[in-house]
Formats: sequence, C-alpha cells, structure tokens
Amino acid sequence: MDTPRFPLAIIGAGALGLHFVARLATAGPVALVARSDTQATALQAGTRVGGQTFQPQAFGPTHLPQADWVILLVKTGDTLAAAATARAMAPRGIVSLQNGLVDHLLQAACPGGHAGQGITTAGAWRDADGVHPAGTGETLLPPGFEAVAERLSGAGLTARVEPEIAAARLAKLLVNVAINPLAALHGVTNGALREAPYRAELDALVDEAWPVLRAAGLALDADAARQRVIAVATATAANRASMLQDVQAGRRTEIDAITGALLEMATQQGVDLPAHRDILARIKALETG
Ligand SMILES: NC(=O)c1ccc[n+]([C@@H]2O[C@H](COP(=O)([O-])OP(=O)(O)OC[C@H]3O[C@@H](n4cnc5c(N)ncnc54)[C@H](OP(=O)(O)O)[C@@H]3O)[C@@H](O)[C@H]2O)c1
Repeated sequence: MDTPRFPLAIIGAGALGLHFVARLATAGPVALVARSDTQATALQAGTRVGGQTFQPQAFGPTHLPQADWVILLVKTGDTLAAAATARAMAPRGIVSLQNGLVDHLLQAACPGGHAGQGITTAGAWRDADGVHPAGTGETLLPPGFEAVAERLSGAGLTARVEPEIAAARLAKLLVNVAINPLAALHGVTNGALREAPYRAELDALVDEAWPVLRAAGLALDADAARQRVIAVATATAANRASMLQDVQAGRRTEIDAITGALLEMATQQGVDLPAHRDILARIKALETG
C-alpha cells in the first residue's frame, strides 16, 4: 500500500493537538499522530472535542504517513521521540508549539533540516468528557513556516509568522518561569499569585529572571518584566496553570524546559539564580513525591 502524504500533520493527540486538528480538519486534510497504534485506532472511532464527536485521520508509529509540514504538540519531555517521528514523515519543515525552550533540541534532532519553535497562546484542556478548547489565543511561527501560518489561519486559528520569534519565545518563558511553578507549588489559580502571600515570591522570580532574558535578547527592564507577568496573571486569573494540572494529575511537569532552560541560560552567562534553583528542586520533589 502506498504511504499517504498529507499537507500537514500534528504529533500529539492531547488537549492542544486535538483542538488544532479538529479545527484544521474543517479546512482540509490533516494527519494526527498518536503515541501508539492502539490510541490511533481508538481515535479513528471518534473522540470528543468541544462537545462534538470528531473522527481524526489518526496514525500510530508503525503506519506513519508522510507530511509536508509537521507540528509538534507533545509535552517537552517527549520532544526528542516526537522529533524522530516527525523526521520519518519526510517533511519540508518541523515546528514545535510546545511551552518552554526546545528549539535547541529540535536543531540537534534535525541536523540540516528545517526545524524551529514557535509559541501559542491558544488553549485547551481535557477531562473524562474529552477535549475542551479554551479561548482563542494567537500562534506565532518562525520565519520559513508561512505555509503553516496560512493553514492555521485558513482554519480560523489566529496565526502569523513572527520575524523576532526568539524574543517572543523569551517573553513567553519569562511568564512561564514565574507563574507556572508557583501556581503548581501552592495549588492556586494564576490570579491568586498577584496577592499576598504569593506576590513576594512571584516578584522575586521575575526580578531574577529578566536580566538573564535581557542578556539573551529580550528587550525589557524590571518594571516592564513585572508588568508583563502581572498582565498575564490578570488575563488568566481563573486559569489553573498547566504545571498545576500536571502536578495534580501526578504527571511529569515541563519544569526542565521552563525553569531548567532559564537556569542553563544563566549558567552560560555566569549568573546564579537561587530562587529559580530552589523552585526547580521543589517541583522535582513534588513530581517524585
Ligand atoms: N493545553 C494548552 O492549553 C497548551 C497551551 C499552550 C502550549 N501548550 C503546550 O503544548 C504541548 C502539548 O500540551 P497538551 O496540553 O496538549 O499536552 P497533553 O494533553 O499531555 O498531550 C500531549 C500528547 O502527546 C502524546 N505523545 C507523547 N509522546 C508522543 C510521541 N512520541 N508520539 C506521539 N504522541 C506523543 C501524549 O500521549 P500520552 O497521553 O500517551 O502521553 C499526549 O496525547 C505542551 O508543551 C504544552 O506546554 C499547551
């Protein structure tokens, strides 16, 4: 049997992957790659997305299709395995929309290939009733991924290529290193972090992080950094951060790609970040506990 070729594929049949695939499928063919053949078969039979039954064109690792463009939407701990799967699909380009920093992993996994990391503020969560899209959000892609931006926009998802994608990733990292671990540690929604007793810890994390991110190419100062984090905590006040959801569900978190990535950057700059070192250790303790 000939291997089918799709214009676009998404790896990761989780909350965001299924949300994106269900939208994309309204505008054209899109392949969904699940972790296992069994999962792919179950998905083909129908899964709930946004309160409706959706039957994706789902594939497992032993019957992979080919694809022109591949989007990675797995958790960061699964990046290398998913990148290897993506390469096996003979794509023109591979783009990650994961949280944290994984661009260096993609470059290492795809030597000589066209790979990069964008960001998205689109949201979705899943429970026993299926996947629930949450808010519209915006997806920013690295230069060279215009075709992916067009496909996403054509399906009604707000998307564009961002020439300064490296700075955009750092801006998102600033928010993630401050809000995600603190919300997970204290078991509170994002909005609660703006008030005592959490606010001092939030400010301390921001104050340590911004000089490192500025040295890495993000143009901002102390006031702008605090304002940016508070603005996101306000806009997402009722949300439970993904790291909080992971901790509560007993799943591994994305702390290595978030706080771990910041600490690596700081080490390269010869800077110590004790508050972030401490919070990484506390999240790791929660994961193993
Ligand atoms: N959800 C959001 O609102 C949101 C917003 C912005 C960014 N993000 C980022 O997007 C990424 C995905 O998030 P999510 O919430 O969609 O996570 P998720 O619900 O945990 O989904 C991840 C999916 O990837 C699958 N997977 C893992 N390794 C795989 C592999 N090698 N091949 C194929 N599938 C594989 C997982 O399968 P198993 O279930 O078998 O592990 C799971 O179905 C994360 O980096 C997250 O930070 C999420």
